[in-house]
Amino acid sequence: MKISRQQMLEGLVSILGDTAVLRDTQDVQRYVSDWSGSHLGTPLAVVRPADTAQVAAIVRFCTQHRIPMVPQGGHTGLVGGALPDCARPELVISLERLNRVRQIDPIGFTMAVDAGCVLEQVKQAAETADCYFPLALGAQGSCQIGGNIATNAGGVNVLRYGMMRELVLGLEVVLPDGRVWESMNALRKDNRGYNLQQLFIGSEGTLGIVTGAVLKLSPRPQRTLTVWLAVASAADAVQLYTRARRECCEMLSAFELIPRIGMELAFEANPQLSNPLAEPSPFYVLLELSVSGPLDLQGLFDGFLERAMSDGLVHDGALASSGEQARRLWLIREGMVEGQRLRGEHLRTDVSVPISSIAAFVDQASKAVAEVSPQATSLVYGHIGDGNLHFNILPPAELANTSVTALLLQIEEVIFTVLDRFNGSISAEHGIGRVKRNAYLSRITQEDVQLLKGLKALFDPLDLMNAGRIVPTQARTAAD
Ligand code: FAD
Ligand code: LAC
Ligand code: ZN
Repeated sequence: MKISRQQMLEGLVSILGDTAVLRDTQDVQRYVSDWSGSHLGTPLAVVRPADTAQVAAIVRFCTQHRIPMVPQGGHTGLVGGALPDCARPELVISLERLNRVRQIDPIGFTMAVDAGCVLEQVKQAAETADCYFPLALGAQGSCQIGGNIATNAGGVNVLRYGMMRELVLGLEVVLPDGRVWESMNALRKDNRGYNLQQLFIGSEGTLGIVTGAVLKLSPRPQRTLTVWLAVASAADAVQLYTRARRECCEMLSAFELIPRIGMELAFEANPQLSNPLAEPSPFYVLLELSVSGPLDLQGLFDGFLERAMSDGLVHDGALASSGEQARRLWLIREGMVEGQRLRGEHLRTDVSVPISSIAAFVDQASKAVAEVSPQATSLVYGHIGDGNLHFNILPPAELANTSVTALLLQIEEVIFTVLDRFNGSISAEHGIGRVKRNAYLSRITQEDVQLLKGLKALFDPLDLMNAGRIVPTQARTAAD
């Protein structure tokens, strides 16, 4: 930083006005930690620009004075990317005031929004035009479209509609030097040269700040069928998934694996919930079919379920008979994540393997974890249709707090070692951020690292924008 903090604050106030620059410890509190409660350092200040021009002016100012920056959405990212640094204090640029729905086109099924729109808000706005924005995740009441784009978010409907990458048609980005890169087009097909837009999606704010996006919409589902099924194992769940893909045609919109301990954690987080079935089962599948036209969803599902039950793949099931009942089934899925958070420090992973390898991976990883710590609780859940599992670990209850972190790191390494045998990914949907950086860099080639560093240097030669996320900082190495 080439100027004093006081000069910086005066410069920021001259661009944004006094109320959009937060600097008191109390005021910046909300911006220093994320959903999980993690925090690293205190920011230089927090700015809350109201539009793209203000974001660009702030970034130009930061570049001129070599001020490190971190864009922030809804603080729900799970890899520490949005947390302000402690070693090299950063200016937090919050997108929360860029929250306008710019335009909805129900004829072309597109929607233009500011990046700070909360995902839930976008979904509701799409519905008012009888359309549907399919991205769906537990954090949708807080996360922002810009954050979803930056992390290429996934969620529970990916198997039908794709990840964020497949849901974006146009983008507006403030580059790390303050120029605005504008490509807010709504074209379904566009094959002109390199697709620069895709570079920004999933780049976790390291290449620029997303300020606007044109999103791809779908017709709004008219009927949805939600069912909770009891299955004996993860292997049976995979078999059931393959059948559902074939027998429920293109209507399958979610297929989530939930272990019994996951359900119990959901009850801890939300005591209003209860087991939809009379008997407990080792695993459950939360399956959803949806359709936007007059098709016989129930008939399709009944035939599928009858065959699956007579072949012993499904032991019991509860079909939601109302929207409210369906919502309660989804609350169990979401409560499972909150229940883990309430238990305190635990290992969170986000891995993927080919769908056909899920059962073997779960089996081998479970055995490997049990060898390291027989008392640790494995919690395997997630998006079977994407080969994406959250293989999470709760530490043994009796373990001293001071030993928990070391044990969890050891177990993570064990899980990743098994994962490597399957050529799996250590990050299927949450990104790299800081938390996964070393595990990521140690698994890619020298050529990959050179290309990553080259790209970062091209977009951000001064290494001011989200430095140290994904790519090592210029001054640091992969090992630090
Ligand atoms: P933040 O956390 O604020 O930021 C995340 C990263 O993006 C940071 O590096 C930040 O610097 C950068 N960033 C934020 N906004 C911008 C912007 N406008 N321009 C450039 N960079 C930006 N993820 C899934 O993929 N699938 C799930 O099913 C899922 N479920 C979740 C459930 C829960 C309960 C929680 C807490 C999280 C879940 N997530 C899931 C994590 C997911 O990545 C985030 O919820 C979301 O995509 C991040 O959005 P955010 O606005 O909160 O971003
Ligand atoms: C989920 C998040 C944690 O699937 O990715 O619940
Ligand atoms: Zn997930």
